[in-house]
Amino acid sequence: MQSKGSGMDPRHPHRVSPKALEYLKEVVDYGFGNSSGPGMTTRFEKAFACRLGMGFGISHCNGTATMHSCLAAAGVKPGDEVIVPPLTAAATAICVLHQGAIPVFADIDELTFNISPQSVEEHITPLTKAIIPVHLYGLMADMDSLMEIAKKHNLTVIEDSAECFLASCNGKLAGTIGHAASFSFQASKHLTCGDGGIVVTNDENYATMIRRFSVFGYHTLTGRSGGVMPKRERGDPTSIRHDFLGWNYRMSELQAAVALEQTERMDELVDQRKKIGAMFLEAVKGCSWLVPQYTPPGYDHSYWTFVCRFESEPAGCIWQEFRQKFYDFGGDFFYGAWRLIYNEPVFQERSFLGGFFPVDSDLYKGKYKDYRPGLCPVAEKLQPKLMQFKTNYVDLNEAARQVGILRETINYFEEKREVK
Ligand SMILES: Cc1ncc(COP(=O)(O)O)c(C=O)c1O
Repeated sequence: MQSKGSGMDPRHPHRVSPKALEYLKEVVDYGFGNSSGPGMTTRFEKAFACRLGMGFGISHCNGTATMHSCLAAAGVKPGDEVIVPPLTAAATAICVLHQGAIPVFADIDELTFNISPQSVEEHITPLTKAIIPVHLYGLMADMDSLMEIAKKHNLTVIEDSAECFLASCNGKLAGTIGHAASFSFQASKHLTCGDGGIVVTNDENYATMIRRFSVFGYHTLTGRSGGVMPKRERGDPTSIRHDFLGWNYRMSELQAAVALEQTERMDELVDQRKKIGAMFLEAVKGCSWLVPQYTPPGYDHSYWTFVCRFESEPAGCIWQEFRQKFYDFGGDFFYGAWRLIYNEPVFQERSFLGGFFPVDSDLYKGKYKDYRPGLCPVAEKLQPKLMQFKTNYVDLNEAARQVGILRETINYFEEKREVK
């Protein structure tokens, strides 16, 4: 059913506002000029970079392509190593494979679930070129320690901030500390345009290389938003466009129209999830067997999702029983943690690129370690225990109802335990 006037679906009254329709209309009305138009990608890039206080924003079609461009632009080559955490969306490691480089998995911290700087340092070899820390579930990784390690070993740090908008650590925002940072606008994220991504950086040369890698390697592109090859030059038969290989990772004007509207409401959209995260935090207070992701002093969590470690023995039930009871009481669907990336068959069997990736060639000989069990013991212990509760509610009353159901479920098992 459509609401009168705005034409927006009333089930999502705040997620995408009528302003997005105005921006979309601008794009459609213009009719997609090849080198001119309403400049939505430029407006989006400028607005996003400005809110984060960063010099450059480079839009992409998603938040995986972003990281691939960042790796390529940092000079990461096939056969180099890139350190990533194992508990994250597979995209964090897949972009490394897209560059022909080798993902090396560092373990995570027991309490924050984020990549452990100590484990990162232990995994550095002469082949290491970059680190991709993930700000998991909306909580920033320990960026100060990671930047110190990176400086010591001359490594590039690309923040995977796909799940982390406007979180901070000691006043510094997620995405503003590494050499570059990647954000995703995929459907589940704080801000969305269905699919989309953006890189931010303060380094103009790096920004230029990232943009060039993201659009066919066009030699006239720079880090600045809105640059196109002048039409006269482009139209000349002697014109040179490409002096190196790049991909086509452009964001469309339609995606950018919605991404711009979302960016203009970034604070509002993130605050909603922060409020809901705080409500969940209150609900699990005092429960010894449902322990939330730890937010260290000085950190502000942005709660892409609210995640707890579930301890089966003191709870007196297994993970699946708890989830079923939560559903019985009317709870929403919730996810367990992703399988650790290196435990996915694609890594276990190294069936990269459908088996065409030359893992047995001289380039990789002796470099691929076995992705064996025991590689990251903390992550392996935690992964089966995690529960990810949804914070993506437009209606705070519905969120409060879900939080109440979680409390009811906890009480149910607490009482059962007391009777025993
Ligand atoms: C941590 C993390 N990194 C990267 C991505 C990839 O983003 P996209 O789906 O926009 O490619 C996601 C989620 O989609 C994610 O959660």
